Amino acid sequence: MNQTETAIEFKGVSKTFGNFYANRKLDFSIRKGSIHGLIGENGAGKSTAMKVLFGVQPADEGEILVNGKAVKIRNPVHAMKLGIGMVHQHFMLADSETVLDNIMLGHEPSTFFGLLKRGKAREELEKICKNYGLKFTKWESRIRDLSVGEQQRVEIIKLLYQKSEVLILDEPTAVLTPQEVKELFENLRKLKQEGKTIVLISHKLKEVLEFTDSVTVMRRGEVVGTKTTSETNEDELAEMMVGRKVSFTYQGPRRILSSQAVQPKSVLKFISERVSVELRPGEILGVAGVQGNGQTEFLKALSNPSVYGEKYFKGKYDYLVNGREIGDATPLQLRNMGVGLVPEDRLSEALLKQQDMTENFLLGQHEDPRYTGLGLFGRMINRNKVKAAVEKNIQAFDIRPPFSTVWTGRMSGGNQQKLVMARLLDPQPSILLVAHPTRGVDVGAIEKIHEAIMMERNLGKSVILFSSELDELIDLCDRMVVFFDGRVHGEFARKEFDPWAIGKVMGGA
Ligand SMILES: Nc1ncnc2c1ncn2[C@@H]1O[C@H](COP(=O)(O)OP(=O)(O)O)[C@@H](O)[C@H]1O
Ligand SMILES: [Mg+2]
Repeated sequence: MNQTETAIEFKGVSKTFGNFYANRKLDFSIRKGSIHGLIGENGAGKSTAMKVLFGVQPADEGEILVNGKAVKIRNPVHAMKLGIGMVHQHFMLADSETVLDNIMLGHEPSTFFGLLKRGKAREELEKICKNYGLKFTKWESRIRDLSVGEQQRVEIIKLLYQKSEVLILDEPTAVLTPQEVKELFENLRKLKQEGKTIVLISHKLKEVLEFTDSVTVMRRGEVVGTKTTSETNEDELAEMMVGRKVSFTYQGPRRILSSQAVQPKSVLKFISERVSVELRPGEILGVAGVQGNGQTEFLKALSNPSVYGEKYFKGKYDYLVNGREIGDATPLQLRNMGVGLVPEDRLSEALLKQQDMTENFLLGQHEDPRYTGLGLFGRMINRNKVKAAVEKNIQAFDIRPPFSTVWTGRMSGGNQQKLVMARLLDPQPSILLVAHPTRGVDVGAIEKIHEAIMMERNLGKSVILFSSELDELIDLCDRMVVFFDGRVHGEFARKEFDPWAIGKVMGGA
């Protein structure tokens, strides 16, 4: 590759945290004016590599060449001077400020009067949008009043305003509807046509294959290889990412729900003014929607009506489980009625990080007769029984490292989630409330978790699956409701699943 064509080159770049290599001797280069994908499983080291490039973290060894010249990038301000800009995984805009103020922060044009400055900045921004074919007009809106897609556009416009030549986007599509994704990539293509270089961090192979020119694959902190996108395919990239062959969609059997049409009784019913949902026996009901449209509140009310039924629904709802009105039941009562939960955030809601797998497995099960016995002081927990159960589950779910004494905080996200699934299924619930079971989980563990959910369904259990990954819902669910603006805004039967149609409803259509 010709030096003058290369925007960025990594040469033997390493970054450690303690004695852990987040990046080890990275070698790859990014062609000027291209869209370059950077893919890898969770924890592969993608964000770290780009933070090194953006000057957030210094490298321990190796060098980075910008436009063919080795530079030591000291900090983000320095990176921006070199024409490198980054949109982080979690946006960094000030919520209560206007778009214009967010973009101008620290970059006001040098005139005397503030108003003049704003006018001039706005003029320049409008010019930028025109030049790059970006649609945006809400300069005086506050960030919190914008959709996620709009906020992202503001981040990109901000980078252009700062004259970035290389734009790094860290998992930009994770929070978007299919329509917003399409618009984002249309915009990125226009930027590319104008000569900008785009680095796209992603774990979604489909979008990488569709929208990039070349792609670098990382695994466990190392670069596995760089490919020209048109010369590779999903299977090859997946194998490079994971180190073995994987399937992304559930391949196993799907029992036909025959009784349902004849006998559409429900096992769970939640009826309120804004949200009404019924769960039928043996089905997986998906809850789709862009984050922040009422799904979280609904799940909280379902899983802990004693607190959140009042808080989010003012107590005005009917909630029935297996025909029984359960109004303001506690989580323990729900559990005893056969309702199991995988909460939204496994770290803050599901696990004690500084406790081992056995202690975590016992959470919520400490009164289960299977794990207690009569001791000197009455009923006591029988640790040997718990440990045996954990060990059985370590085997069944292939949890690594395979030791019941490991602190869960030391395990990878995928293995933590497998433990949470194992604990959910252990008391054999008949109704499962499962939220984001594969968020931040590696591809290998996703397969296992999907299999476990589908197996429960095939056994006749009923599942409500909350997910922000539309592909996951389309793959697994029998039916789907879509949330928008705190309401159920649409419903789809499996045969009507079409990402485009569902995306429209997610966007409020
Ligand atoms: N500031 C940090 N301190 C300690 N470990 C970190 C830090 N940042 C990242 N890591 C670790 O480095 C590895 C790579 O992380 P990251 O670059 O965020 O991966 P990716 O973006 O590919 O998911 C992970 O194991 C992560 O836990
Ligand atoms: Mg990352």
